[in-house]
Amino acid sequence: MRKKIVAGNWKMNLDYTSGMSLISEVLNMVNDEVRGDQEVIVCPPAVLVYSVAQLAKGNPKVSVGAQNCHEAESGAFTGEISASQIKSVGAQYVILGHSERRQYFGETNELLAKKTDAVLKNGLKPIFCIGETLEERNQNIHFQLIKDQLAEGVFHLSAEEFAKVVLAYEPVWAIGTGVTASPEQAQEVHEFIRKEVAAKYGEEVAEDTTILYGGSCNPKNAADLFAQKDIDGGLIGGASLKSRDFTDIITKFNK
Ligand code: 13P
Repeated sequence: MRKKIVAGNWKMNLDYTSGMSLISEVLNMVNDEVRGDQEVIVCPPAVLVYSVAQLAKGNPKVSVGAQNCHEAESGAFTGEISASQIKSVGAQYVILGHSERRQYFGETNELLAKKTDAVLKNGLKPIFCIGETLEERNQNIHFQLIKDQLAEGVFHLSAEEFAKVVLAYEPVWAIGTGVTASPEQAQEVHEFIRKEVAAKYGEEVAEDTTILYGGSCNPKNAADLFAQKDIDGGLIGGASLKSRDFTDIITKFNK
């Protein structure tokens, strides 16, 4: 049975005080709403990962993730953070390949393959993001693009390693725009992704792979998205900054 996940990506928002308030509220609110097959992940900015992880430690339903890491183990990379450092402060996940990292920091599939290796080597799990721009969708090259992002970013992994990967489909045109992919549009791509995984690793691995949707997901549209057979939850940006909205989204899985 694949896991259902709602993950919050705080991006570069919140300072220490507001971040602590938000995680405290989330921890107070989520308990009764999270079933055994569900997991909540909170991904704060790197400087808050330790403090958030400390607070979340006692809650088996809430995990913590970073938003990026460097591909090297350690060394002279001023300003960067390694997977082992993230692991050492109590996180379990790392978001990799977010479109903002690809767009503003030039991250390529080749680099992301190395980051994926670093994350797995350190006992963390990647939340690996893929997705097309509006231009790419309009040119009808989005399926090929997603195919390449998977092939070059994560398909070098063994089946055993890949089993630890969470995929997130985030159409760039839906991120922070208020324009959500329709449930049908998202399902079409999620089904394609699962078929790609099946072709590479077999049906069983594909059935167990959690594929999240991200892009203007909110308490109003989450239920329809999560009802799609290949959508296993969400990677939430803006709505994860409000405890009520974030915890509302968690309740939108079919009971
Ligand atoms: P929004 O939910 O703000 O559109 O952001 C989605 C996202 O990028 C999550 O990683």
